[in-house]
Amino acid sequence: MLVTTKELVDKAQKGKYAVGAFNACNLEIAKAIVKAAGNLKAPVIIQTSENEARYGGIEFIASIVKTAASEAKTPFALHLDHGKSLKMISDCLKAGYTSIHIDGSNLSYEQNVKLTSSVAKAVHKKNASVEGELGHIIGSSGFHTEKVEDVTDENFFTNPAEVNNFVKETEIDILAISIGNLHGVFKGKPKLDFNRLKKIRNKTEIPLVLHGSSGMDDMDVKKTISMGICKVNVNTEIRMAYTNTLRDVLNKNNHEIVPYKVLPPASKAAQEVIEKKIKLFGSVGKA
Ligand code: G3H
Ligand code: ZN
Repeated sequence: MLVTTKELVDKAQKGKYAVGAFNACNLEIAKAIVKAAGNLKAPVIIQTSENEARYGGIEFIASIVKTAASEAKTPFALHLDHGKSLKMISDCLKAGYTSIHIDGSNLSYEQNVKLTSSVAKAVHKKNASVEGELGHIIGSSGFHTEKVEDVTDENFFTNPAEVNNFVKETEIDILAISIGNLHGVFKGKPKLDFNRLKKIRNKTEIPLVLHGSSGMDDMDVKKTISMGICKVNVNTEIRMAYTNTLRDVLNKNNHEIVPYKVLPPASKAAQEVIEKKIKLFGSVGKA
């Protein structure tokens, strides 16, 4: 069943767990997510960044997820992650994406409100749900050599004083926040500002989203969920498991050319990461 992200995270908020939002750019990773969800009877969000959607093809990805969702006993949402291009947003909605993250976090507060509220109106007309972002999450979904403390910058953290107005003015369904979380894996573990999370939680009732969970301390992730995080995004750890396994398989079998022989171990490695995260987020059996 294909549902909106709002439907999944509203239920998670009541049940005090989080739904995993896993990035996929190809058939193998999409299938790994679907298998993990089925094994653990968990609701999941399959998401593509703009580059992942361009690589996989919006229509192709949407067809894969719709097929999986029609066969599965568990609910899925299909989400555009860090959407910035209005053309991409409109193409995703046409293809059947059930939610959109409009990322105006590189804009001023006023410009972010203007962009997010206009996108939210268009997305709601299509009965899809909208994630907004206040504050900015540094980094990219890859392996970085810098230390966490050298890249963390409080100037980019979400300002709790802006939260209430941002949510009201934009009419978003869920809010992505910046509290020390970083995209990608750096040297060391991110130091999360739990006090800020508490203040943000007190300013709005809508479900909150934690981006950049790769490389975070598991106990910290659990704590954010107990404090109101209902959607947790995972990309880098899936990419690392998938690509590093594929590299190993190719190195050890350098004459093998059959894709369906070299790809399954990579897919399996991605699935293992996803299952580990679903267990951590407390969403096992919540489908
Ligand atoms: O939007 C995607 C996520 O925030 C992924 O972050 O690559 O650190 O897991 P990550
Ligand atoms: Zn993100």
